[in-house]
Amino acid sequence: MTAAPPPTGPDEPGAAARIAAGYASDGPAVELGSVVVAGHPHPEAQVRLPLSMINRHGLIAGATGTGKTKTLQLIAEQLSAAGVPVVLADLKGDLAGLVRPGQPGDRITRRAADSGDPWSATGFPVEFLTLGDIGTGLPVRATITDFGPVLLSKVLDLNETQESSLGLVFHYADGAGLPLLDLKDLRAVLTWLTSDDGKADLKGLGGLSPATAGVILRELIALEDLGGDVFFGEPAWEPADLLRQAPDGRGVISAVELAAVQDRPALFSTFLMWLLAELFEELPEVGDLDRPKLVFFLDEAHLLFTGASKAFLEAVTQTVRLIRSKGVGVFFVTQNPTDVPSSVLGQLGNRVQHALRTFTPEDADALRKTVRTFPKSADYDLGDLLPALGTGEAAVTVLSERGAPTPVAWTMLRAPRSTMGAVDEQVRADVVAASPLQSKYGVAVDRESAYERLAARLAPPAPPAPRETPAPRPPGPPAPHRGRKAPQAETGGVVAAVLGSSAFRAFARSAASALGREISRGVFGTRRRRR
Ligand SMILES: Nc1ncnc2c1ncn2[C@@H]1O[C@H](COP(=O)(O)OP(=O)(O)O)[C@@H](O)[C@H]1O
Ligand SMILES: [Mg+2]
Repeated sequence: MTAAPPPTGPDEPGAAARIAAGYASDGPAVELGSVVVAGHPHPEAQVRLPLSMINRHGLIAGATGTGKTKTLQLIAEQLSAAGVPVVLADLKGDLAGLVRPGQPGDRITRRAADSGDPWSATGFPVEFLTLGDIGTGLPVRATITDFGPVLLSKVLDLNETQESSLGLVFHYADGAGLPLLDLKDLRAVLTWLTSDDGKADLKGLGGLSPATAGVILRELIALEDLGGDVFFGEPAWEPADLLRQAPDGRGVISAVELAAVQDRPALFSTFLMWLLAELFEELPEVGDLDRPKLVFFLDEAHLLFTGASKAFLEAVTQTVRLIRSKGVGVFFVTQNPTDVPSSVLGQLGNRVQHALRTFTPEDADALRKTVRTFPKSADYDLGDLLPALGTGEAAVTVLSERGAPTPVAWTMLRAPRSTMGAVDEQVRADVVAASPLQSKYGVAVDRESAYERLAARLAPPAPPAPRETPAPRPPGPPAPHRGRKAPQAETGGVVAAVLGSSAFRAFARSAASALGREISRGVFGTRRRRR
């Protein structure tokens, strides 16, 4: 909060009202807070983000400790209250508090009064997810076949040549109808292609040099060594499970915990991108709605973009552009707007800019660039304002219900109504145990049956006759799915066995598909599902 504001000028309420008029809306909106003029909050002048414009995406930026995560939290709360499901990346575990009502206190009371907020402590319906089986949450898994080559290249940090080579390897496996469950399966295909027996196939692919195949192999092994394969396997996550409402009609907030994979940030952010790509492939076109179907918050978004290939950037840009008409809003959360490539930044219609630091010449440069991305303001000098914003204050501009940028508003943000910060491990564990999705995802499928399941999912769709439902698996601790059938699994399991069989060799030469149909892939190279 700004200390010792100057005395109120006579024209301040008028200026606040004029700015707030730009935020008037008929439909439902997320209430962000109140307009601040000359350091004084004007609780009667409200700054809001219309729900109908959330699919025009957004950016929450600002230096560390300026209030980005709390802004994310209060927006997520109101979306949930409006029945909109939310997916968010919980990098430090400090969004888990969404599940518990907040703690009243002097600072909350003061902020509620300043921001014009009838605050009352409230907890929200949260589903805790984890990547693979690290941490306390429902494990989100994908198979390598589902994940595809573009995203995997990002995780492996491949250059463009290596990336296109990996694309060829997937093309080969897809065409051969070879389901790839995890990193070992992919390794088996690469090993085969670089072996004496596989040489002919390698030649047929064109463009994949044995040297490049060798580099990719080494990167795969390195990722496995770092535990990067816990995330790959079955049961694979179904994106539709992110679009849920609690029995009381509020939107479920899926919080993906990343605390345990912080040393692999590229894996984390790429995984989130995978979820988004899956949603994109899955959801129908709906045009503009009066409220979004889902809102996605990508925290620490700079991790997504550093060192990203052209193919990856193009895929992000395209997904962000096209997912809007599927009713999904995407919010990037990062320190500096300049972390986000301009092709993406230009599509983020809603902006909450917290304080920027100006310690170094680079900072000053970033500040100037940031100011230029805002609409001209008659009320504030943004170059002065942005470094001077207090904690939990921001310069806001959003799209009005008519789709025009609102006047920049110095905003005193509301306080979240749930707990700010982490919760006890036990609270988390209880929520996870009680989840309706526990029986579906709680237990990993062992390697051999996982392979069969994946093969079945890839098979041409069955006629709409009564489907056979698999017997439910008994609840219990996750099956130790690695190393159990040691000799085979270690060398690539079923894929290695298939590749080594004489039937496969004969088949590979005939270039027909074992499953009858080649796998088709979407913008991100993720597998298209069949309906
Ligand atoms: N809207 C807000 N309401 C109340 N307190 C806030 C708000 N925004 C920030 N704060 C305070 O500032 C601290 C840092 O905010 P946080 O969102 O974690 O920063 P960031 O994510 O930018 O690093 C919080 O722990 C909280 O005490
Ligand atoms: Mg934060």
